[in-house]
Amino acid sequence: MRNVAVFVGSLRNGSINQKLAKALAKLGRGQFAFTFVELGDLPMFNQDLETSLPSSVVRMKEEIVAADAVLFVTPEHNRSIPAVLKNAIDWGTRPWGQNSWAGKPGSIIGTSPGNVGTAAGQAHLRSVMTVLDVVLLGQPEVYFVTTPGLIDENDDITDEATRQFLEGYLTRFATWIDQITQYEDKVQKVA
Ligand code: FNR
Repeated sequence: MRNVAVFVGSLRNGSINQKLAKALAKLGRGQFAFTFVELGDLPMFNQDLETSLPSSVVRMKEEIVAADAVLFVTPEHNRSIPAVLKNAIDWGTRPWGQNSWAGKPGSIIGTSPGNVGTAAGQAHLRSVMTVLDVVLLGQPEVYFVTTPGLIDENDDITDEATRQFLEGYLTRFATWIDQITQYEDKVQKVA
């Protein structure tokens, strides 16, 4: 079982990205244990707070470190990363020298009602997380356009082709996590 820390870039009640994340958790039950990381209680980043890290920041950093992998399920805001998610990412890198993200296998997925399906926001997020040493799955890219009823009230995907595509994506992500974990283990043994 792969423990995955999930970061949803929307705090909104009824968020379609929360809904997609829950659908993925359900689809991937045999392969993953998803932990949904709370982002709403993180203070806005302020370097003055680094001298005594807020407990919510410590908790989030511990959740990242404890996970086998990280998964971002996020809308795009104005063609970029939602502020709530960027805030969490920045906290995860601090204090200097204590980047909790380093070496984690990861993946990015997101949904919007618009035709671009979060592609621009994902591209920004990808460039940031790569610099932070998260090893991101390259393919398949998932730019998920939400339509009414596509995910039902039980968090099931109602369209068969979409469900199969997402199952394939999750299987690929599982393989990716295993490969990166094995690689990191080997590097540690050699070092
Ligand atoms: C949006 N939305 C949006 N959609 C999009 O496809 N590209 C974009 O750049 C933006 N920008 C944007 C900015 C802000 C501040 C908001 C609030 C919304 C629309 C967005 O996709 C839609 O509100 C989704 O429902 C947001 O996802 P959640 O919150 O439902 O998960």
